[in-house]
Amino acid sequence: MLVSQKDIAARVAELGGAIARDYADKRLVLVGVLQGAIPFVADLMRALPIDLTVDFVRTSSYGAGTTSSGTVQLVAGLTVDIADRHVLIVDDIVDTGHTLAALTRALETRNPQSVRTCVLLDKTGRRETEVTIDYVGFTIPNVFVVGYGLDYDGLYRNLPHVATLEGV
Ligand code: IMP
Ligand code: MG
Repeated sequence: MLVSQKDIAARVAELGGAIARDYADKRLVLVGVLQGAIPFVADLMRALPIDLTVDFVRTSSYGAGTTSSGTVQLVAGLTVDIADRHVLIVDDIVDTGHTLAALTRALETRNPQSVRTCVLLDKTGRRETEVTIDYVGFTIPNVFVVGYGLDYDGLYRNLPHVATLEGV
């Protein structure tokens, strides 16, 4: 066990408070990255007592491995129009940074007012590309983790806590 269900819930409530203050009078679109961000988006959106729209995108770079390939593909796109909207990309984890860097660039071409990023977990020591993460739940060491949306080869996303793979 790396991050307990209780600690996740407390931190998501804090993040929700901060994000709600920052976006109180803005037109926020939460963009979750499938599939890993599903539990985080579901909890975070309910911690945001402001007007918002939710959408999802799908990216791929992993396959069954445990490290990012560096070439991130946008597999499925948005359904809402983000022009003139404030976008907050929500993902489970930032590791090399390739996913969020590519996604930020892709969404910026659609003329939003702003694009910022929010992750539950940050493996700071692993960054291969520069990307600004605006809201971070927890900084974690360089270990492969599963649970609360994070998978290994499709498994363990349903764990209510975050665990190292050996500790599942
Ligand atoms: P990045 O492009 O290397 O920053 O990786 C981001 C994506 O890789 C995340 O959205 C996750 O889906 C996946 N990922 C990175 N580290 C882990 C991990 O420890 N466990 C499970 N998935 C991970
Ligand atoms: Mg992911």
